[in-house]
Amino acid sequence: MRRLKKTKTTSRRSFLRHSSAAGLAILASRKIGSAESLAVPRAQLSESTIQQKVDAIIAQMTLPEKIQMVHGERRTGFNGYVPAIPRLGIPELTLTDGPAGIRHGPGTAFPAPIALAASWDRALAESYGVAMGTEAKAKGQNILLAPMVNIVRVPEGGRNFETFGEDPYLTAQIATADIKGIQSQGVMAEAKHYAANNQEKQRLTVSAEVDERTLREIYLPAFEAAVKEAKVASVMAAYNKVNGTYSSENTHLLKDILKDEWGFEGFVVSDWGATHSTVAAANNGLDMEMPTGAFFSAKLSEAVKAGQVSEATINDKVRRILRMMMRFGFFHHPAATGPLNYNAQAQVARRVAEAGVVLLKNEGNLLPLDLDGLKSIAVIGPYADRATTGGGGSARMSPLYAIRPLAAITQRVGQKAAVRFVRFIQGSDLSKSDPPTTGAGLLADAAKVAKSCDLAIVFARDFETEGADRESIELPEEQDQMIKGVLEANKRTIVVLNTGSIVLLNQYADRAPAIVQAWYPGQDDGNVIADVLFGVVNPSGKLPLTFPRARQDVAVSSPQQYPGVSEKGQYSEGIFIGYRHFDKHNVEPQFPFGHGLSYTNFDYSNIRLSRSHIRSGDPLTVELQLKNTGRREGAEVVQFYIQDVQASVERPIKELKGFEKVMLKPGQSKAVKIEFNERSFAFYDPNQKKWIVEPGQFKVLVGSSSRDIRLTASFNID
Ligand code: BGC
Repeated sequence: MRRLKKTKTTSRRSFLRHSSAAGLAILASRKIGSAESLAVPRAQLSESTIQQKVDAIIAQMTLPEKIQMVHGERRTGFNGYVPAIPRLGIPELTLTDGPAGIRHGPGTAFPAPIALAASWDRALAESYGVAMGTEAKAKGQNILLAPMVNIVRVPEGGRNFETFGEDPYLTAQIATADIKGIQSQGVMAEAKHYAANNQEKQRLTVSAEVDERTLREIYLPAFEAAVKEAKVASVMAAYNKVNGTYSSENTHLLKDILKDEWGFEGFVVSDWGATHSTVAAANNGLDMEMPTGAFFSAKLSEAVKAGQVSEATINDKVRRILRMMMRFGFFHHPAATGPLNYNAQAQVARRVAEAGVVLLKNEGNLLPLDLDGLKSIAVIGPYADRATTGGGGSARMSPLYAIRPLAAITQRVGQKAAVRFVRFIQGSDLSKSDPPTTGAGLLADAAKVAKSCDLAIVFARDFETEGADRESIELPEEQDQMIKGVLEANKRTIVVLNTGSIVLLNQYADRAPAIVQAWYPGQDDGNVIADVLFGVVNPSGKLPLTFPRARQDVAVSSPQQYPGVSEKGQYSEGIFIGYRHFDKHNVEPQFPFGHGLSYTNFDYSNIRLSRSHIRSGDPLTVELQLKNTGRREGAEVVQFYIQDVQASVERPIKELKGFEKVMLKPGQSKAVKIEFNERSFAFYDPNQKKWIVEPGQFKVLVGSSSRDIRLTASFNID
């Protein structure tokens, strides 16, 4: 079904399974190198040898040399740079953004991380990491400032598109796969922003006032998994304060939890300009100041000389940095630019974008479009003729190429039907760097054209960026008006959304027969959307966020919570954010967490637990039968939620604790089986300072979304 050119460098199973490569023609003229030569193996040194070598280097270092290692300096072509110390054979260290591509110079514009999360595909997340690691390496970058593993708390959050959504388990799963992928290429990942970095308003000063249980259950699990499971090399300390103390000097976060409790062996880097002190930051766990040495250069030397920071503390920082550099083989293979197969990156980027598209609604199977029955298609909206390659800020990419939806649709349709485009309005300049072309079309024109055509496809987007939260979660400009107007003119209207996270669809969601959420798909935007609309790709994404019917339905709805009063954001909603909140208050969302349709149907049956009684710590597996009952090949994300029926503390009605994405041919069925672990049933008890599994009844809820539970089973923990 798919056209796919297989290249040696793209032999990774996951993204080749059902990859597409129509956009590759565009790349064909580019020089294709081999990434193979870049896959430098890590230094094959044992841990004890690394330890000895690092200690030997530190023994020879002067204090100024040590100080030089713990802060950055400005260097063109990098976001962060630590110069080499040739006398000791220490190479330079180079750092770059970010989570949606390699920021410096034109490069692959990958789909936004939120699209990756919407794929619910661990193997694809690893491919995304591999592709980015490969590209970073070829561009001479040692550390990729990614992934962002903060949880979406505030719907307006300017950086929501950089995250993996509202759920800690999904975030942890996608993040660990992504990190493993990046690091497999000999590039360090940097999990950011530690911790509770959930808004852009007052981002440099706000204090997240958050209780310990909420931190542990919602905001920290992805960092914990990054450290324990993915062995992430570095962690970025956030701009904000947590419970009154800046993250970069927060001993509870950096020392007690990250280093002591989780056993983090890597180093902590401050976000750019997030260091606020010398002595406190140095003594409380920060290892490297970025981007310069405002606090960790001359001032740190003085503090050491004055006895306020011990040399042992400095040695620990240098040891952490050098140990990782040696583990990653940087001493043997210093950062160097090399040939790069952009073709391979393009395939991964496109596969992720495809897999992340969420079909929110498809009444009467309006999609996929069958060209045989169509004479004319209206394509409407200023952003139909603009590629949505990504969001703004440090995650912004300068793409190698960008496919516009209008161009891709026109190309697919060919001579079979007429495509009539109306730009509609254009008001303000949403993204200064990617300004929409202004046009003179009016709503009346759009409506007239929509009415005259067999069907209409209307495109809308938002623009999210670091540094500013959105003013509202309604679509900006007059796009809601446009969608409503087009729907009034033609009932057969498909709404395509390119938004970085939650938007309010309540003005037309009930009336629109088909809604496609495509996020920021990256450089292949148009191709991906056209392939979904025409059924070349069967959508399989699921929402990593809850879409509310009204803004006030969301957990974080008071000024005390957001943006905060007197620079304090009260996390008074506790663990009840996202679907946990909607469940608790029995509020009907517009589209629930985990929701996403397919062009085929799936049947769930035969749930079985390995045991009906376990003791805490015992393994428990759940198995069921999944069948594709439709006529197309497609993938379903089977979601496993746990409910603690008898808890002594208030717990969410359900929490995601497992998922499996399963590809099935028409008529095919497969057993889907997962194993839970102790953490699947636990809550964090701040009094005992540990995770607790309470005896009693539990339920496993298996669903196609958090609100479409198909099977349940009960068990007891004795
Ligand atoms: C962002 C980080 C980014 C850094 C370097 C900061 O403003 O918060 O996410 O990695 O800049 O560009």
